[in-house]
Amino acid sequence: MSENTIRAIEATGNGLTELAVTTKSAPAAPGPGEVTVDMMIVTINPADLLMLEGRYGVRPPAPFVPGSEGVGRISAAGPDVTLRPGDIVMPMPGNTWTEQVTLPARHVVPLPANVDLDQAAMLKANPATALVMLEDIVPLQAGDWVILNAANSAVGQNVVKVGAALGLRIACVVRREGAAQALRALGAEVVIVDDGTGPAPCLPDGAKARLALDAIGGAATERLAAAVADRGTVVNYGLLSGESPRLSAHDLVFRGLTLRGFWLASWFATAGPARIKQVYAQLVAWLGEGRIGAKVDAHYPIERAAEAVAHAAREGRDGKVLITTRFHTGPA
Ligand SMILES: NC(=O)c1ccc[n+]([C@@H]2O[C@H](COP(=O)([O-])OP(=O)(O)OC[C@H]3O[C@@H](n4cnc5c(N)ncnc54)[C@H](OP(=O)(O)O)[C@@H]3O)[C@@H](O)[C@H]2O)c1
Repeated sequence: MSENTIRAIEATGNGLTELAVTTKSAPAAPGPGEVTVDMMIVTINPADLLMLEGRYGVRPPAPFVPGSEGVGRISAAGPDVTLRPGDIVMPMPGNTWTEQVTLPARHVVPLPANVDLDQAAMLKANPATALVMLEDIVPLQAGDWVILNAANSAVGQNVVKVGAALGLRIACVVRREGAAQALRALGAEVVIVDDGTGPAPCLPDGAKARLALDAIGGAATERLAAAVADRGTVVNYGLLSGESPRLSAHDLVFRGLTLRGFWLASWFATAGPARIKQVYAQLVAWLGEGRIGAKVDAHYPIERAAEAVAHAAREGRDGKVLITTRFHTGPA
């Protein structure tokens, strides 16, 4: 690999196996207000898999560089930039599955030098989704119940941790016992295994949730809604079943439930710079205190990207699958 070339992962068609690790020219040196970031670790999220399959909310034409998250180190900074080479940063724009990017310095979040790099690589999407869904959708007070499904996901683990930081009571629904054990070990107060066949999950002592967070869709949405108080809110933010969320007319009309969607990309477009800055400042602080984060199942070097994607698409993982580049010099 010459100094003037980098590797990137490219989606070459519509499908999880339509991938190539290509060699490209390195990005241009940073101009005024810009930085070049050597990406060290990038994340594979369900949204990336949907995008590879052409099933996401946005569908860039192939070939394109996928990826929405990652962490890197500044290797060069343009004039008038206060960030310095060596600083650890999280780029906010997408197309992260590459070894190097040059971008405006205002589009990176600076991170402490001693940050946990795995957790930093996973900071942008899932912890923010957890925090924003708990703070910006319905007004919740300490002691209120929130119920969520697919709770062993990275979003779910962060909902448990952010919920604890906010004083909320979190009820977790998962589809298998192994996932339940992992969440109990994390300190989750209530964990319910629901394979979709028995009675719908319910909270202890007849309590009802003010908010339900549904990442599955289909019948799972309705099962979650059974634990929500009348006039409560069900938020669908993922389609892990591949089906649209479903609520009965009884829930919508007679119980007055609200069903709404959440997409972090829309939140970025509408929340305003002050709120976005506040959310990431809070998350960086909590990350430093070890109060948020999610498990990692495996690391793969960039040249094994196809194996990494296949692993990320498997059921029953014990955490995220991360891809490391030649700039990641730590243990992996
Ligand atoms: N709307 C937004 O802005 C936004 C932002 C971030 C994430 N998301 C969505 O949030 C969801 C979780 O993302 P993540 O990155 O946290 O996931 P993740 O860590 O990769 O984990 C995926 C989880 O989904 C579970 N799962 C998969 N298919 C399922 C099904 N049909 N029924 C029940 N559980 C199922 C898996 O359970 P097993 O362990 O049992 O396989 C696993 O716990 C995804 O749908 C993602 O697209 C949305």
